[in-house]
Amino acid sequence: MTVYEAIRARRSVGKMKPDRPPREKIEHILEAATYAPDHHTVEPWRFFVISGKAREELGELFARRCSERLPEIASEKAQTLLAKERGKLLQAPVVIVVASVKPALPKVLDIENVEAVAAAIQNMLLTAQEEGLASIWRTGEVSYDPEVKAFFGLEPEEHLVGFIYLGYPAITVSPREPGSFEARTRWLGWEE
Ligand SMILES: Cc1cc2nc3c(=O)[nH]c(=O)nc-3n(C[C@H](O)[C@H](O)[C@H](O)COP(=O)(O)O)c2cc1C
Repeated sequence: MTVYEAIRARRSVGKMKPDRPPREKIEHILEAATYAPDHHTVEPWRFFVISGKAREELGELFARRCSERLPEIASEKAQTLLAKERGKLLQAPVVIVVASVKPALPKVLDIENVEAVAAAIQNMLLTAQEEGLASIWRTGEVSYDPEVKAFFGLEPEEHLVGFIYLGYPAITVSPREPGSFEARTRWLGWEE
């Protein structure tokens, strides 16, 4: 599979089989992430590989934080929401949480660290595609929650850029037809 083929074939796939892919595939994906471009080569990415019972432990934290946000916890709707938060990570056998750490030097911009981490995540999604794995990049309120950040040893101003769900696909998703680049591109100085 060429990179271009992987780019064109990649889709977000939320439904995965429960079987955990071998560690080598996950390591291959993590290694690919580290080849992303990053300004000043500070390697701002941090990875947390969540599987097995760790998904439940983190799911409990998601549910607790969700309950603290809900004004009326007794309602049926609230209970449904809590159950969803608790079970969120069980939708995939492996979830890689990808964080961007704060700059240690004045010349390093926080936004550029986040941009580099986003590039690293794209490398991960494309490598997952090549490995025959389903993937989906998820965020949501938990990504911005200081207590969830603290669970990973991160400061409130650091970033959980993505929860990357990985597993063998349980469904087939057709390639996407994106909007045309022509409509979103201006060529400056090309015809001179
Ligand atoms: C920063 C970011 C956050 C995302 N968060 C979610 C999410 O929380 N839940 C979800 O289902 N998809 C999420 N996605 C995936 C997008 O919904 C998906 O990429 C988009 O619908 C295009 O579909 P495709 O990936 O299959 O091409 C996220 C994507 C990005 C880049």
